Amino acid sequence: MEIKKVCVLGAGLMGSGIAQVCAQAGYEVTMRDIEQRFVDGGMNTIKKNLGRDAEKGKITKEQMDTVLSRIKPTLDMKEAATGADVVVEVVIEVMEVKKKVYAELEEIVPPHCLFFTNTSGLSITEMASVTKRPEKVIGTHFFNPVPVMKLLEIICGHQTSAETLEVAKEWGKKIGKEVIVVKEAPAFVVNRILCSMINEAFFVLDEGLASAEDIDKGMMLGCNHPIGPLALSDLVGNDTMLRVMEGLHRELGDKYRPAPLLRKLVRAGNFGRKTGKGVYDYSKK
Ligand code: 3HC
Repeated sequence: MEIKKVCVLGAGLMGSGIAQVCAQAGYEVTMRDIEQRFVDGGMNTIKKNLGRDAEKGKITKEQMDTVLSRIKPTLDMKEAATGADVVVEVVIEVMEVKKKVYAELEEIVPPHCLFFTNTSGLSITEMASVTKRPEKVIGTHFFNPVPVMKLLEIICGHQTSAETLEVAKEWGKKIGKEVIVVKEAPAFVVNRILCSMINEAFFVLDEGLASAEDIDKGMMLGCNHPIGPLALSDLVGNDTMLRVMEGLHRELGDKYRPAPLLRKLVRAGNFGRKTGKGVYDYSKK
């Protein structure tokens, strides 16, 4: 199957990154979100990323303009999804919201269109159950920042076909990613391990064992991580982190209980870099 048009639903951190790498790979891309400020924010992020690459001489100004011209931002679901060969769904990590989006999409996209979901850990099988094409639904889990991180974790749902998996793998390679294929389970493979570690860092901080700076420094210098777990949670979004942990806790039990401090930060609206404050304060930088 040949992919020409990719529709990305969501223009936040992940959605804009996915739209960027797809456009860089030559696809015609639509990027849809529910409010103009989100769409504008996504386009600004892409422009900033490409501008940085142009400044470094990694791409030319012409290449930057070509990539940007391939991305059509919109608020209109119909405009975004009509004629799409692939929809990459990057909407909020709430199953009921995702199901509504899939039901709406069914009425718009052509029969051959594949549904790729960038969920951080929700069930692909459950999302697929509300579509008329469960064999065409698959998990394509990206990592933040999308243009930098090499991995694409692909997750097959219960009814995902071998053909859909092959197309997703080829697409992943074409957009410059290394692919791993994992079985469906809560939070899949990478987030189950990564988010558990980050959650533990919040417990350690809350117990007063060390400062946030020293916890991060310890994991960077002691384990060669490029960034400490608390700073990483701020980068990914503490709200996203909490949702992953809540899913793991719900499905796999008490071993995965979200740290109360993580929950407290989210309740305070301290989601991390995107709100200017998380574990660390970014408002003055
Ligand atoms: N978007 C695009 N490019 C970015 C970027 C961004 N947000 N942030 C940094 N970069 C680029 C820089 O331009 C630079 O490019 P260059 O090599 O061409 O010069 C390169 O990345 C390195 O950036 P910096 O030198 O500014 O900073 P660092 O060396 O500190 O790297 C980092 C920043 C790449 C974010 C690094 O800290 C890192 O790898 N962190 C770990 C990220 C990680 O673990 N991500 C996974 C999160 S889990 C997830 O996303 C799953 C979800 O479901 C929860």
